[in-house]
Amino acid sequence: MDLGNATSVGGFLNIDKIGKSFGGLKILTDVSFSVSKGERIGIIGPNGAGKTTLFNMIAGEFPPTNGDIYYEGENITKLPNYKRVRKGMARTFQKNNLLNDLTVLDNLLLVLQKKVGLEKVWYKPRTNKRFPGIYDEADRLLETWQLQERRDTVINRLSYGEQRQIEILLGIATEPRVLLLDEPTAGMSNAETSYILNLLNDLPKDLTLLIIEHDMDVLFSLSDRIIVLHNGVVLAEGTPDQIKNDPRVTEVYFGKEEVV
Ligand SMILES: Nc1ncnc2c1ncn2[C@@H]1O[C@H](COP(=O)(O)OP(=O)(O)O)[C@@H](O)[C@H]1O
Ligand SMILES: [Mg+2]
Repeated sequence: MDLGNATSVGGFLNIDKIGKSFGGLKILTDVSFSVSKGERIGIIGPNGAGKTTLFNMIAGEFPPTNGDIYYEGENITKLPNYKRVRKGMARTFQKNNLLNDLTVLDNLLLVLQKKVGLEKVWYKPRTNKRFPGIYDEADRLLETWQLQERRDTVINRLSYGEQRQIEILLGIATEPRVLLLDEPTAGMSNAETSYILNLLNDLPKDLTLLIIEHDMDVLFSLSDRIIVLHNGVVLAEGTPDQIKNDPRVTEVYFGKEEVV
């Protein structure tokens, strides 16, 4: 009998002994951790450690080879991505995932349409009658994010850093309950990085964040807890201070890379 009901699994998000192999090659082995609601988790590990693969499984891009993922007590291991999005899970990609030939506004409207379950009618002219309030909502967000002057700019005319900012903003626009950010500040200028940092710091405190990040300053300032992945396993887990002082982490991670 399956006793894996909602009350048997504590925590908000539970990663339970998940493993992933690609064509017989083991990428992740027995990765387990739990995340509380509103917690901000930083994930670090050398390139190829399996961080993005882990996010892909939490977001439902593909299932793990073994192990389970629970969200609010529900086993979501096999739930497809779009159903997780409806449950409040959102993610950004290590590479841009925007519609490059459309404007900032159009990209934003598409995301807002998805939020209200109208993504299947994306091809119909967007009128305020069909989608009440959607333009007002988009303009309100663009104003909050100080992006009004970019409203009608086509994505591929923006700088790389600006495109990444927009992608993060689109993730936030759906008002998710869990947000997965894959190297949010990679390739950004210092000014763009501070913009994103301020934005992430100002997010509602009950929003749960999982952040993969190479920039240690960004990671340590944002995270309540840090998980270190190495050779496909969780090498260490702890507060930023504990991680900074963990000799295993220093050896495999900080030892090799310049910490700025
Ligand atoms: N779809 C895939 N098919 C085969 N191998 C993959 C796939 N995705 C990732 N990998 C491999 O898994 C390993 C971990 O990749 P990744 O999760 O992107 O690491 P990280 O994000 O920590 O740098 C790498 O060796 C990568 O080549
Ligand atoms: Mg990656």
